[in-house]
Amino acid sequence: MKLKDKVAIITGSASGIGEATAVRFAAEGAKVVVCDVNQAGIDRVVADLQATGAAAVGFVVDVTNPESIAAMVTAVKAQWGRIDVLVNNAGITMDAQLYKMSDDQFDRVIDINLKGVYNCTKAVVDTMIEQNSGVILNASSVVGVYGNFGQTNYAATKFGVIGFVKTWAKELGKKGIRANAVCPGFVATPMVKAMPEKVLQGMEERVPMKRLAQPEEIASVYAFLASDDASYINGAAIEVTGGLTL
Ligand SMILES: NC(=O)c1ccc[n+]([C@@H]2O[C@H](COP(=O)([O-])OP(=O)(O)OC[C@H]3O[C@@H](n4cnc5c(N)ncnc54)[C@H](O)[C@@H]3O)[C@@H](O)[C@H]2O)c1
Repeated sequence: MKLKDKVAIITGSASGIGEATAVRFAAEGAKVVVCDVNQAGIDRVVADLQATGAAAVGFVVDVTNPESIAAMVTAVKAQWGRIDVLVNNAGITMDAQLYKMSDDQFDRVIDINLKGVYNCTKAVVDTMIEQNSGVILNASSVVGVYGNFGQTNYAATKFGVIGFVKTWAKELGKKGIRANAVCPGFVATPMVKAMPEKVLQGMEERVPMKRLAQPEEIASVYAFLASDDASYINGAAIEVTGGLTL
């Protein structure tokens, strides 16, 4: 078990990659904190994890709301005494080409995908500094390395969270804390599966492996980066794309 007794907070873990990451972390022995805005999804994931014998708790947290994050951090520390891993996974898309994008679309995506990562990391960093150990993992994207049509707002946030980990790697490395980003290509989650069949087929065609990633194939990379197997990986942005960008 790679993550035995590590306390891990995973944002946006009521669905998709976050849920798969919660399941994988629990299987690796972690104590998992499921947090999301989706109460029904939290309840389902926590019940599934507990049914396997895993230690799991759920919190309704909006990553744009520092009070809700602080309440979770306080409760987790009261219950388990520490925070070893934060996976900043919560994210949304509100796509439009630049000339059609509303300020609301821009601001909402920045608030959740970029400021939300800042809010959550700020809320745990003092604890990690006190412990002299911790791992921070940010959900970037292939779009955060290459940009994408219709995603001015999303691309800015996914580039931004890579900037965060490179900065935090420099600031926090001497305090025993590692920070890395994961940049998936196309992953078969509710976010992507909602797209028209023709668009999905076009996406698969562009990948040398001729298929989308399964959420578990991203979760396994988070588990590796959270573990001591990745003890010298710091400030990296790891592409997990099936070769999409070649
Ligand atoms: N699916 C892909 O192809 C893909 C590719 C690259 C990167 N990503 C990134 O991976 C992450 C997860 O994506 P997914 O495809 O699993 O999406 P998803 O929509 O399945 O899950 C995202 C979760 O975040 C939660 N969430 C949304 N706003 C929130 C908020 N304000 N506070 C707390 N939780 C909130 C949602 O309720 C949902 O449960 C995102 O950051 C996404 O940008 C996804």
